[in-house]
Amino acid sequence: MDSKYNISLNEPSFNSKFNQKRPKSSTPNKKKKMKLLNGKALDQVHTTNGDQPTSTQPPVKLSLLEQRKKLPAYGVRGRLLEEIKKNNSMIIIGETGSGKTTQVPQMIHEARLEGTGMIGVTQPRRVAAITVAMRVAQEMSTTVGEIVGYTVRFEDMTSHKTKVKYMTDGMLLREAILDPLLKAYSFIIIDEAHERTVNGDVLFGIIKQAQKDRIQKNILKLKVIIMSATMNVDTFSSYLDDCPVIYLEGRTYPVTVYHMKTKSNDYQHTALCTIFQIHKESPINHDILVFLTGQEEIENTAYNIRQIAKEIEGCNIRVCPLFAGLPPMQQLEAWRPAPANIRKVILATNIAETSITIPNIKYVVDTGVVKSRRYCSSTGAEFLRVESCSQAACWQRTGRAGRDSPGKCYRLYTAEHFGALSPFTQPDILRCPLAPTLIQILALGIDPATFDLIDKPPDEAVQGAVNLLKQLGAVQGTDSITLTPIGKKMSAFPIDPKFSKMLMNSSEFGCLDEALSIVALISSEGVFQCPISKREEASIAKNKFISPLGDHITLLNVYKAFCNAPFKKQWCRENYLNFRNLTYAQSVRQQLADLCLRQKIQSSSCGQNYDQVLKCLITGLFVNSAWVRNGHSGGTGRYVTATGMTAAVHPSSVLHGTSPAPRCLIYTELISTQRTYISGVSVIEVDWLFQIVPEFARKCRIMH
Ligand code: CDP
Ligand code: MG
Repeated sequence: MDSKYNISLNEPSFNSKFNQKRPKSSTPNKKKKMKLLNGKALDQVHTTNGDQPTSTQPPVKLSLLEQRKKLPAYGVRGRLLEEIKKNNSMIIIGETGSGKTTQVPQMIHEARLEGTGMIGVTQPRRVAAITVAMRVAQEMSTTVGEIVGYTVRFEDMTSHKTKVKYMTDGMLLREAILDPLLKAYSFIIIDEAHERTVNGDVLFGIIKQAQKDRIQKNILKLKVIIMSATMNVDTFSSYLDDCPVIYLEGRTYPVTVYHMKTKSNDYQHTALCTIFQIHKESPINHDILVFLTGQEEIENTAYNIRQIAKEIEGCNIRVCPLFAGLPPMQQLEAWRPAPANIRKVILATNIAETSITIPNIKYVVDTGVVKSRRYCSSTGAEFLRVESCSQAACWQRTGRAGRDSPGKCYRLYTAEHFGALSPFTQPDILRCPLAPTLIQILALGIDPATFDLIDKPPDEAVQGAVNLLKQLGAVQGTDSITLTPIGKKMSAFPIDPKFSKMLMNSSEFGCLDEALSIVALISSEGVFQCPISKREEASIAKNKFISPLGDHITLLNVYKAFCNAPFKKQWCRENYLNFRNLTYAQSVRQQLADLCLRQKIQSSSCGQNYDQVLKCLITGLFVNSAWVRNGHSGGTGRYVTATGMTAAVHPSSVLHGTSPAPRCLIYTELISTQRTYISGVSVIEVDWLFQIVPEFARKCRIMH
């Protein structure tokens, strides 16, 4: 092994741990009603079965039906259907890979239990909704968009024929705004409930209410099924009026779990060692899935793997990154089988943690960490921190091995460390900005003060969200909060209320065209590409688009040039721009434009008069304004935000290092990592703030 990387591939660093049990608290308290299919409770049957020999033979190809028949859920379908018929609400707990996500909706449909309604299945992440729908369509010998479909933000693959509809929880929430009784559905299945996304938590409340209202109004009953492999059953069951809990016994294949003998101080390095150790010691016909925390880490690791692989003769590795910021089509690359003599190494964030099956993954390398966002409602800052996962998340990761054959999971932390982790992931609703959710709750006609949530967010966070929406003119009232007419219109857009406000106001500044492009680009993923080996070329290419006014107008320049380029793909390659993300932004823009048309927002363009665009940006983003600190100029510029946070312009911004530092800026995001940064930044005139939001500007002047 090349000493440059200081990697010893032969160091035996793992202890194998057998018969690992799930966190105790996932078993409900004895008083609760509990049904056990096949006789045993989950925590009694979960073994990692370390003695299972790892086959070196390629697995025998089973037909899809044969594969289905082997799944634990399929084996008990008769009894499961009985329970489903009997109960209006129920919880299904089953090992990862037992067939919950793919089989339960199918068996309901095969028994035609849904009647005239649809079976809606929510997923916390879009990639899960898409890939699961594809799999189920395949199992049902149909194509996606017919009987089986999916909807995710800005993409609808359903038709009037669709009966089994996979979707993100956010999409179902949007549907609930149009129809709080969710009359199109006879079944709602909330999958991976343990993830506790904000949308998922809000959905629980809405569905609970819809169930009651539908009984009262004598409309077809709404049946609700909550599914997960690792969740706090007590909490959910008591929230759903002590509904029954059904356990599916057994998993499809055993997974051996290994823990580190000693603590690793550098998980990225240890991950690299482990990947090559597995690669060296095990047959090439199985792939590796590695959990890392974010894009940068994934790209660095990908680079390191490729460099090391180059120096080992005959080292056939294909690296596939998988993170939320990757365009959907590129994400799906991870599902494409590698040729026979090549090993696929998938480097993923926690988006690969739940619900998905990537065929042929036998080895999971789990770093045990996740990058999580926390929000501080008093400062408006989001904190990005690398934190230890919960035990539930670690089990989910483990479950990704052993989906189609026995697997192994290498945990890059000690068994003691694992034992000390919190059993469940903290609900997002306790740590997220709430304004986007609050506007939706209000649009549903629900009083947030009495809304029945599983966990109530802190008062301070709710108040922060109310204040922001008031500043944006979206809500009114003190004791009881309601949407203003403009707030109602804003709630129709599936985007942050700060951006929908900009679209609402754009006709006043004659710049709907420009505002749409900017909002679409911000709502999509990054467009600039900067390959490590071509940094200089990429930076020269970017210079062509840079506007001294800042990042928003720079994005607009890119978009305009993209629309005018005749051979877009080639043009993007030459200019180090991401073709797929730009194409995606184009479709997002189209959908936002359609919504604007429906909201009767007048079409307009300001041409090169960019001041108009910046003024329009202020109408939504004024709360994100930052002023240069007294007596500070030049350099990277230190700013103070409207909430009093000190922040620097992010190095990725075109305004980074501008000298003298502009006096006043607006930004898209305020993010704290080791330092606090503002990113997506534009220069504005202080006078504009006084003209557009005088009250707010006066408060800021007092502060600065
Ligand atoms: O939801 P749960 O973890 O219980 O399992 P599932 O997602 O329904 O998957 C059951 C099995 O179907 C997996 O173990 C895989 O063998 C197979 N599957 C697959 O091969 N490809 C997919 N995209 C989804 C599932
Ligand atoms: Mg699942």
